[in-house]
Amino acid sequence: MEGIFIYSQDVIESLRQANDIVDVISGYTSLKQQGTNHIGLCPFHREKTPSFSVSASRQFFHCFGCGEGGNVISFVMKIENFGFLDAVKFLADRVNFQLPEKSQGSSVDLQEKAKMYEVHTLAAKFYYDNLQSDRGQGAAAYLDERKMLPAIRRKFGLGVSFSGSELTDFLASKGYSLSLLVKAGLAMEGTRGHYDRFRGRLMFPIFDVGGRVIGFGGRILVESSNPDRKEAKYLNSPESPIFDKSRTLYGLNLARLSKMQSYILVEGYMDVIALYQAGIKNVVAALGTSFSEKHAQTLKNYCKEVVILFDADEAGQKAALRAIEHLYAKGIGIKVARLENAKDPDEYIQKFGVDALAVELQKQAINFVDFQIETAKAKYDIEDAPQKVSFLKEVALIISRLKSVIERSTYTHHIATKYGIDPQYLGEEITALTKDPLDLWKPVDKARQKNITPKKGAGYGEAVSHILSTMASDKAFCDKISSHLTSEEFLDPLHSRMFDVIIDFQKNHTDAQQADIITLFEDEASQVTEIFAICPEYEGLQSKTKALLHQIKLVKEKHLESMMYDSNTPEEEKQKYFLETKKWLETHKISL
Ligand code: CTP
Ligand code: MN
Repeated sequence: MEGIFIYSQDVIESLRQANDIVDVISGYTSLKQQGTNHIGLCPFHREKTPSFSVSASRQFFHCFGCGEGGNVISFVMKIENFGFLDAVKFLADRVNFQLPEKSQGSSVDLQEKAKMYEVHTLAAKFYYDNLQSDRGQGAAAYLDERKMLPAIRRKFGLGVSFSGSELTDFLASKGYSLSLLVKAGLAMEGTRGHYDRFRGRLMFPIFDVGGRVIGFGGRILVESSNPDRKEAKYLNSPESPIFDKSRTLYGLNLARLSKMQSYILVEGYMDVIALYQAGIKNVVAALGTSFSEKHAQTLKNYCKEVVILFDADEAGQKAALRAIEHLYAKGIGIKVARLENAKDPDEYIQKFGVDALAVELQKQAINFVDFQIETAKAKYDIEDAPQKVSFLKEVALIISRLKSVIERSTYTHHIATKYGIDPQYLGEEITALTKDPLDLWKPVDKARQKNITPKKGAGYGEAVSHILSTMASDKAFCDKISSHLTSEEFLDPLHSRMFDVIIDFQKNHTDAQQADIITLFEDEASQVTEIFAICPEYEGLQSKTKALLHQIKLVKEKHLESMMYDSNTPEEEKQKYFLETKKWLETHKISL
């Protein structure tokens, strides 16, 4: 699916109006009315005398001390360290605001969703109480053995499930329908009635970024010795209206509070908990499913670098290669730490202590290209000439996938020297393989033309928002777009200014975020936030590129149209722009 416009500007505007900025900020720092403004101590930097000011009439905050400023949404993004969408969800929950669902086809019943949250919270409490009860002693002993301290069990809400239909009966007695419990993945329907999905398992509640329980992972406690009756080590909740597996990261609700720029990515529940207990709190895991593009997108909203710390086995290393691809595509910095003499991070800490792990993470972690190359090398005997050739071809392929010429040439030289081959030959091999994924920006052939047919309903406003929000969050696209458009081609002066400001900002920053840009537009922060509120998602670079080309076309058309009707514009200027636009459209094989 391409181009899902998640929230319209109207929705964001109503949400903002529903959340009074003075009200929201008062929850974080105490404010006193002074004239038309409210003032208080700035929650973003240490200060003794208040220089933080909130305007109720303009619904804007500004700190004269540290320069932070913005509207209620950017405030929540900054203070809670939320990404845009999570900030929106947070504010919506705060005032019971009904956000429209993403796709209209499968419109989700909001009441049902609210009930889903309720049953998950109740279930988590139920499992937690089980663990504290006499019957929970076995599970508690298991956690003792794994050196998991009581405070951490509480923090992660660990619990235990027993047999039969205890949870199902309990929730049914509270009035929840069986069909809801089945849909939530807590109950199963059998031939002889309903029973609990999780039985005899150590229970890990899975939280969303805001800390609500949205699902569970259950680890087997007693493994059957009979291989025929072997059950999966972990059983996880199925996807539900509140649980999107491909996006959810275990531990993110806690990791985001660390406000660190670098996160550790591990594989398992136990690894997250072990690192957290040892004081490494910026740790997350993708659960029961492999690390996806959406996981990378989620992480991009919270950190700038990821250190991958996966299990030492082959599966772990393969999973690391997959995670690298997704993280790299999103422009997140990547390092890989490898474990020796321990199967996973949890075991490593038990054996060697957290200080040793910290050294692995900081000093021994290698950059991801070296990791890819070393993983490839393990497959070959490079003393053997034909195998060395295969290895180097694979190296060329790895390097060719790097986005920038500088990266490619740096690694080419590095590897050529390391393996004693002429950098020129390696370089040629790489160039031959290099296909710019943004090739679509170059003139397209007839065959591709069909795919660029305009998407119905995508209007001018959305096109502008999409272009600007993409530029603000993606440096590479910002560069590309700026070679096709100029600020004069926008109708609204604010859009023109945003266009210039974003280009300038991207030039001077390596990791610009939309919130930074909002801050630059003090007076128009709300409008800017609303423009960024349109967050399209694309499956892959090609569909994103196609959509953007189409949207650039809309901007050009609209500009042309307004120019033609404008009697103040000289005829020759009209003519000139008309010809330029026509040429652009022809080069890109887009018809008017
Ligand atoms: N996993 C899963 N289903 C399985 C096995 C694993 O969903 N049958 C997922 C779980 O999210 C698990 C992760 O993959 O946490 C890593 O698996 P593993 O290393 O086996 O689990 P650990 O969390 O390390 O648990 P333990 O230390 O108890 O072995
Ligand atoms: Mn493990």
